[in-house]
Amino acid sequence: MKLLIAEDDLTCRVMLDAVTRQWGYETVVVADGEAAWQALQEQDPPRLLLFDWMMPKLDGLELCRRIRNQKTSDPPFIILHTARTDTEDIVAALEAGANDHIAKSFDNAELRARLRVGSRMLDLQTELNRTIGHRKRAVDLADQRAQELEQQKRELEDTIEQLDQVHSQLSQAQKLESIGQLAAGIAHEINTPTQYVSDNTMFLQSAFSGLMAAVKGSEVLLEAVRQGTAGPDEIAQFEAVLKKAKLEYLQKQVPPAFEQSLEGLERVSRIVGAMKEFSHPAQEKTEVDLNRAIQSTITVASNEWKYIAEMHTEFDPELPLVSCLPGDFNQVILNIIVNAAHAISDVVGDGAEGRGTITISTKQVDEQVEIRISDTGTGMPAEVRERIFDAFFTTKEVGKGTGQGLSIAYNVVVEKHGGSIDVESEPGQGTTFVIRLPLQEPAVGAEDQAA
Ligand SMILES: Nc1ncnc2c1ncn2[C@@H]1O[C@H](COP(=O)(O)OP(=O)(O)OP(=O)(O)O)[C@@H](O)[C@H]1O
Ligand SMILES: [Mg+2]
Repeated sequence: MKLLIAEDDLTCRVMLDAVTRQWGYETVVVADGEAAWQALQEQDPPRLLLFDWMMPKLDGLELCRRIRNQKTSDPPFIILHTARTDTEDIVAALEAGANDHIAKSFDNAELRARLRVGSRMLDLQTELNRTIGHRKRAVDLADQRAQELEQQKRELEDTIEQLDQVHSQLSQAQKLESIGQLAAGIAHEINTPTQYVSDNTMFLQSAFSGLMAAVKGSEVLLEAVRQGTAGPDEIAQFEAVLKKAKLEYLQKQVPPAFEQSLEGLERVSRIVGAMKEFSHPAQEKTEVDLNRAIQSTITVASNEWKYIAEMHTEFDPELPLVSCLPGDFNQVILNIIVNAAHAISDVVGDGAEGRGTITISTKQVDEQVEIRISDTGTGMPAEVRERIFDAFFTTKEVGKGTGQGLSIAYNVVVEKHGGSIDVESEPGQGTTFVIRLPLQEPAVGAEDQAA
């Protein structure tokens, strides 16, 4: 350890230098206070200091004060070497900043012991500084980490917000896309009854003019009877008109033509009504009759399934109303029905050799409403089943699927309604989706209260 000795008395200085070197100290020796001060301004100065009190230029006490006025995390250990040993002097030395003092008439053992105390104190001080340094670095690191975490949290929140936006845009886009796809089917659905209502109306129009001719003929005959001029000619004329009007034929054909037309018009109005319900504009949760909503979706989507599947519904007539977003709910049912139709058509082709079955049931189970949608389609192996709710996961060829249907269904059922959606499926066994929606939205803080 480095030791600075400041001593103006040459003999004493040489003696101190010699003994302390013997004890292993690396000494720096100066003859006055000013030189000691200069030595302390060097780089890596000694920290164990032995000063004479009485020195020229700058005495030991003043030197102590100067040193203590310097702010440092490594204060030196100062031993004042003095002939003044009365209490007052010792107090003055300690107050000036000395750590210890030793009388001029010391013996070597005492000096060695006091120097050792000083070195030990300095070692402890160094150790303490190191520990404080470690702690400070740890605290700084923790602060920095906390700041980074805070920053990451903010970035994550931003990302989640952006994702939410993208999700709702995607969901909106998928809704538009499926409405676009359904539009062709719906047009077809409406076109067929419209076609035969129009054919029947034309038939009824010609039937009506035939009937009117017969009515006119009967009026002519009636008039002739009144005038007393009705003879075989008039009767033959009327018979010809009646024959032309084919009354028997009309009697058979007109009532079913009316019936069929009315039924066709009812079909059109059912489809239009279902479309209105399907594209329910409500943006907020409303009390919805789920049986009715599902029925509308089945009707709107009928062109997607009717050639390849039969549709069975087992609706619980007692099903309570459920508070939900009707447009989103319909979209979920549509996505699952379309998937079921695709899976069935992978089994039955165009349906010419027999169709599959889609079964949709509803019932209340405890405080939830359960909707099961089963199909007799291909079913799924585990590796597909595990990924179906992932966004953009699809096994379908380009143009037939984009892999959004079930990810949107999951978002609507789980995130927006606090429900659950599960799937049971095995290859060759068909597939069943089970949706459960809570009848009561979980009250915020209810759990806290219970706890
Ligand atoms: N009923 C089902 N039977 C068999 N496989 C199904 C069924 N429903 C979904 N899948 C599988 O899950 C995948 C993901 O379905 P999802 O509805 O999310 O996307 P998609 O139908 O492929 O495309 P999109 O619905 O966006 O048009 C499908 O590609 C299919 O492999
Ligand atoms: Mg789909």
